[in-house]
Amino acid sequence: MNKGKSRFICQNCQHISLNWLGRCPECGEWDIFHEEKISKRGPSRDSNFSYANPTLLKEINGYSQNRHTSGMKEFDRILGGGVVPGSGILIGGEPGIGKSTLLLEIGSRLSSSKSLVLYVSGEESPGQSKLRASRLGIDSDYLYVSSQTDLEEIIHQIGELSPKTVIIDSIQTMHSENHNSVAGSPSQIRECTAHLMRLAKQKEITIFVIGHVTKEGAIAGPKILEHIVDTVLYFESERNSQYRILRTVKNRFGSTSEIGIFSMEKDGLREVTDSSKFFLRDSSTDENPSGTAIVPTIEGTRSFLVEVEALVGASNLAVPRRIAQGIDYNRLCLLLAVLEKRGGLRFFDQDVYLNIAGGVKVSEPACDLAITLAVASSLKNTPLLRQTVAIGEVGLTGEIKPVSFIERRIREAAKLGFRRYLLPYRELRKVTNLPKVELIGVKRVEDALEKGMKENINA
Ligand code: TYD
Ligand code: MG
Repeated sequence: MNKGKSRFICQNCQHISLNWLGRCPECGEWDIFHEEKISKRGPSRDSNFSYANPTLLKEINGYSQNRHTSGMKEFDRILGGGVVPGSGILIGGEPGIGKSTLLLEIGSRLSSSKSLVLYVSGEESPGQSKLRASRLGIDSDYLYVSSQTDLEEIIHQIGELSPKTVIIDSIQTMHSENHNSVAGSPSQIRECTAHLMRLAKQKEITIFVIGHVTKEGAIAGPKILEHIVDTVLYFESERNSQYRILRTVKNRFGSTSEIGIFSMEKDGLREVTDSSKFFLRDSSTDENPSGTAIVPTIEGTRSFLVEVEALVGASNLAVPRRIAQGIDYNRLCLLLAVLEKRGGLRFFDQDVYLNIAGGVKVSEPACDLAITLAVASSLKNTPLLRQTVAIGEVGLTGEIKPVSFIERRIREAAKLGFRRYLLPYRELRKVTNLPKVELIGVKRVEDALEKGMKENINA
């Protein structure tokens, strides 16, 4: 048995070992084990749930269906229509991205005479929070601020105030006396969050927990909390961009494919509601340099147009370079293989760089055709036809496969003035009543290459 009364936990995948290891046998990460003392009392138990014993499902009182809405549409939408009382929501993001700003704003919007909000800051004094609030123009009568890092004290304050919403900024600064490790260590973070989540369920209060994510990828932070909370949101942005994207990674009470777009202004975060052309260059409808293609993509209930940019150039490396930003690297390699085999193009001596403009990430297969055409267009140094949008999944055989919501995608692009659409042949009959657009059905990659660039080649 473990005489030293400590164990070592991989901070990447939670693998537990009784000895320190240089490399995790589970996930392969190096130098990732963190020592944790094993508590004499054993792991904490969720004994405080009201239904700890088996209970007939029909006799259980469910969660309140009345979600609280903050009035910030982008935020409510990504939670699935508002905040579910009694839920635990984790908001992760790099330091400085705007987590405190967002939650102070949300806290103020959720506060009312019947619904007090307690904002607990372990990083800023009440004076600093006040300064931020004045900058944001917040003046709520029902928003309490507390500078506290002691979990037991926070729980006491919650008992006294009975708030309906609690915001913990940030979980890395909190510590509980019941656990003898330093604040910010994985075991403290995990235990403090678990404790808060139990409290949320017992008292039906909503608890927001802010967690810092390091540049290297979430080590010792939100990743180890994802399974404890009900909802996980990540706040992201491109470097130096004023725009912020709030992404749902897990949601027990809604869809996980939603994104919310905000812009950071000098007086706080603004919602960006008209997102359709958000990621496009101003000149996307007029100019079309070689190596670019436009595709309407759908994330959750949101649709917007993205511009795929490709640069293909002769390589002087033995193994040519492939760089993919905003799409999966393996997907790019697969599409290049299809272009080589089915389209007769050669990339073995070419470097390929691919980027989705605007810093957005796309994972939908519907973007395959646009990626394929952008790469081919750059290789041939021939732009696609003006105002062309390409929609379709590319199969390994080179077939262009149907995608979901085709008509909605086309309508979205048509609103912005795009007139010509390359789409899977089998989808043609599904699109009706769209005046002033030219629909070109394509069956195979070869077909798409020809139809997408035909006039320009002849010109
Ligand atoms: P903050 O919410 O403190 O980030 P986090 O809590 O994620 O660490 O936001 C910090 C940045 O946001 C800071 O660099 C300044 C900027 N900011 C604005 O541009 N406008 C504002 O109104 C506020 C409050 C912050
Ligand atoms: Mg902060």
